Amino acid sequence: MSAIGIHDIHAATAHHVLDLDLLAAHRDVDPAKYRLGLGQDRMSVPAPDEDAVTMGASAAAALLRRTGTDGIRALLFATESGVDQSKAAGVYAHRLLGLPPQVRTAELKQACYGGTAALQTAIGLVARNPDDRVLVIASDVARYALDSPGEPTQGAGAVAMLVSADPALVEIEPVSGLSTADVDDFWRPNDRDVPVVDGRLSVDAYLDALTSAWDDFRARGGADVSRIDRFVHHQPYTKMARKAHARLAEHTGAGIGADLIEDGLADNRQIGNSYTASLYLGLCSLLRRDDSLAGKRIGLFSYGSGSVSEFFTGVVRPGYADAMRAAGGMDLDARAPLDLDAYRALHASSGARSDDAETPRVTTAPFRFAGVRGRARVYEATA
Ligand code: HMG
Repeated sequence: MSAIGIHDIHAATAHHVLDLDLLAAHRDVDPAKYRLGLGQDRMSVPAPDEDAVTMGASAAAALLRRTGTDGIRALLFATESGVDQSKAAGVYAHRLLGLPPQVRTAELKQACYGGTAALQTAIGLVARNPDDRVLVIASDVARYALDSPGEPTQGAGAVAMLVSADPALVEIEPVSGLSTADVDDFWRPNDRDVPVVDGRLSVDAYLDALTSAWDDFRARGGADVSRIDRFVHHQPYTKMARKAHARLAEHTGAGIGADLIEDGLADNRQIGNSYTASLYLGLCSLLRRDDSLAGKRIGLFSYGSGSVSEFFTGVVRPGYADAMRAAGGMDLDARAPLDLDAYRALHASSGARSDDAETPRVTTAPFRFAGVRGRARVYEATA
């Protein structure tokens, strides 16, 4: 069987940004707690006419301009900030992207692990029919209660990936280490807009899941730690990925330094958590910043609270650096800054709703959420 993996990747984020120093001042917290303690500088905040669908479709539209849509037989949309309990977010994206009807479209959910569930499902579909290509979209708005411990780790972002045989960027290797454990560390009941979080437990559950998935990875013949050249760990905030890397070093007894994760953290510091997209924003950040990766192996650790986790590896293909350069990336400085009052007002008004209402026109992204008409969500192109 030929190699299967990520043929192209594109990331997008939300319209607004909040500097965490403003939040620290409001909460009477030392700004170093956020910058050093959590490893976060700023966070993306969606405009009123943005959500997981608009960000995901915006990321995918940029990708499809390069790849075209030929051979795409499935659109798998991973999110835990879905906009409907029944209709898949991917169905809205399918129309916005102008995909043909002959596409299998579905939504996948398991907290932040959903993006990896979609990627591995896509690989399985391509293995079955190697001429098929699968569009994977991971997109989320990470929103916590105002004034809660999770508030400074909020964020928003999306990653689109085209999965195919003979991929141009990263071949995903077949061995995976898996770990599922029923833990109440973070969940969002149906009647709540924000999650219920046991922050301390979530950190421990994440680290336990990492060693458990790693042990399974090794037991199944996965590469020895010394044969992994870079690591990208799920990043609810970048300090968590540092903790993960230190735990893996301790667990394996290997001298894997923090330099092996650095390039994968850079974008997340500016964006915040993006749940399902977070690991793949990290991968994108690494592939864009390090042009010495051809033939190198990347270890990827995916964690979704609740919990499901997976450790797997990808080998970077020759020519990836030119492809990433040609594709270009997000301009994080183009986001519109919010002051604290505007941020809090936006947060307070951004809960779920299904009554008819028009949405103010704010975002400059390719797609927007226009509002609810006849109790149905309406999405449209901005241009
Ligand atoms: P907290 O109350 O900010 O915790 O909550 P803290 O007081 O322990 O401070 C955090 C760090 O800042 C500590 O460092 C402090 O020492 C340091 P650490 O001990 O961790 O190395 N600190 C300072 N550093 C420099 N200068 C200072 C200073 N003051 C303190 N002046 C917590 C932290 C993570 C619990 C909170 O942000 C939270 O609840 N976040 C949401 C949950 C979360 O992100 N959990 C992570 C693992 S679960 C996961 O990744 C899944 C998830 O993505 C969801 C999904 O799967 O869908 C969240």
